[in-house]
Amino acid sequence: MSNPPTPVEETLDPESPEDWEALRSLGQRMVGDVMDYLRTVRERPVWRPPTASARASLQRPLPREGEGAEAVYRDFVENVLPYPTGNIHPRFWGWVMGTGSPLGTLAELLAAGMNSHLAGYEDSAARVEDQVLAWCRELLGFPAQASGLLVSGASMATLVGLSVARSEKAGVDVRRTGVHGLPRMTLYASRETHACVRRAVEVLGLGGDSVRLLPVDANFRVEVRALRDAISRDRVEGLRPFCVVGNAGTVNTGAVDDLEALADVATQEGLWFHVDGAFGALAALSPRLRPLLRGMERADSLAFDLHKWLHIPFEAGCVLVRSEAAHRRAFAYQTEYLAQMPRGLAARPSMFSEYGVQLTRGFRALKVWMSLKAHGASKFARLIEQNVEQARRLGELVDAEPELQRLAPVSLNVVCFRYVGRGAPEAQLDAWNRELLCRLHESGVAVPSYTTLDGRYCLRVCLTNHRTRREDLDVLVREVLRLGRKLS
Ligand SMILES: Cc1ncc(COP(=O)(O)O)c(C=O)c1O
Repeated sequence: MSNPPTPVEETLDPESPEDWEALRSLGQRMVGDVMDYLRTVRERPVWRPPTASARASLQRPLPREGEGAEAVYRDFVENVLPYPTGNIHPRFWGWVMGTGSPLGTLAELLAAGMNSHLAGYEDSAARVEDQVLAWCRELLGFPAQASGLLVSGASMATLVGLSVARSEKAGVDVRRTGVHGLPRMTLYASRETHACVRRAVEVLGLGGDSVRLLPVDANFRVEVRALRDAISRDRVEGLRPFCVVGNAGTVNTGAVDDLEALADVATQEGLWFHVDGAFGALAALSPRLRPLLRGMERADSLAFDLHKWLHIPFEAGCVLVRSEAAHRRAFAYQTEYLAQMPRGLAARPSMFSEYGVQLTRGFRALKVWMSLKAHGASKFARLIEQNVEQARRLGELVDAEPELQRLAPVSLNVVCFRYVGRGAPEAQLDAWNRELLCRLHESGVAVPSYTTLDGRYCLRVCLTNHRTRREDLDVLVREVLRLGRKLS
């Protein structure tokens, strides 16, 4: 009986030198194309919806056999690339995004090439993340012994920070017992706080009702007096206050709470102090803006994003925790399959996976490391100042225009305003501005987002964009006036 033929072994690598050469040349074309795409972004509309044929191209049956890299790249160029979110465009100011950068794009390619696994082995990638975390601590005024972790974004950073808060303040070994039978653990934050805080509280099993949303003053900053009162009330009722959350830049208006006062309350009451600095924390890079954030450096945990005001391509968030021991207590496990080896690849004394939820983690740190080294922290500080200055100027343009009304102070980089026309009835303004914003998005000229402040719907311009020029804001005001007049 003859032996069955040995099956041919396969790989995803190109098979011959010629195939390698073809893929390399396709790769070079991709790099060239993406650089051109970034260079010419201003010439395209900010946003346009995918066409019917682009949508159809993304509803095909699973390809059982491959069509090859050239064909799929053509499909990408035709059906995917032309219909982005738009946040790389100079006139995108919606929600709080970030613009990315050409160098960050290339860093992503390099990181994917290495495809390092950042659970925390003894390799260069882990050292790069250590370096980036050390720089973050330095930039944000945290002590060198504080721990940190790069994560997907501020929502995940908040979950990590509040997990540590929960396990430190529960009064029992909450990782083992859970919160069953404990008095309700309550958390305090202004009503302007981002929903990721509530989500983290829910995920941690504490219940959304444990979030005490506090009133704000005319500048949208939390009322510290109301915080003290709420804590006392909850104590009288036998609840267990455990955490104060301060905002370094609220999502609606960019307001910065009095972080020094919040840190004082947290210290006096023995509570954890967490700061959500998703975008605002990075204003600390600027010596001129840093005083606004006084008190942030006293946080027990700080959540912030590098993909917003540092323009690192998505995703890149970070959490810093003042007490490394507390951070480990909340997450570290002993397992036989991840135990430290005396030497070799697994010899690193602490793994990143002991400080958060993920075991497998990508090489996010490379794009941050390369961007900071190539451009320097001072350049990022100037870009942040530039956006703050642009926001101030937009506020002035709005104030100078009788048909527009600003609805919040410009604390940092967010401007909230609406079209009011000349004496239009209040009852119509929400509908007008909603329609105006739809038309503005559809025109492709500019993309602000929206919010509702004190019951009034408004357009919201958030400047975390290094490509915006002053003229872009003139275009926005002109276009809002034009659309508003047409509507009214
Ligand atoms: C103040 C604030 N906190 C938290 C977040 C959530 O950040 P991420 O989307 O990176 O998870 C945002 C997002 O815009 C934000 O503005």
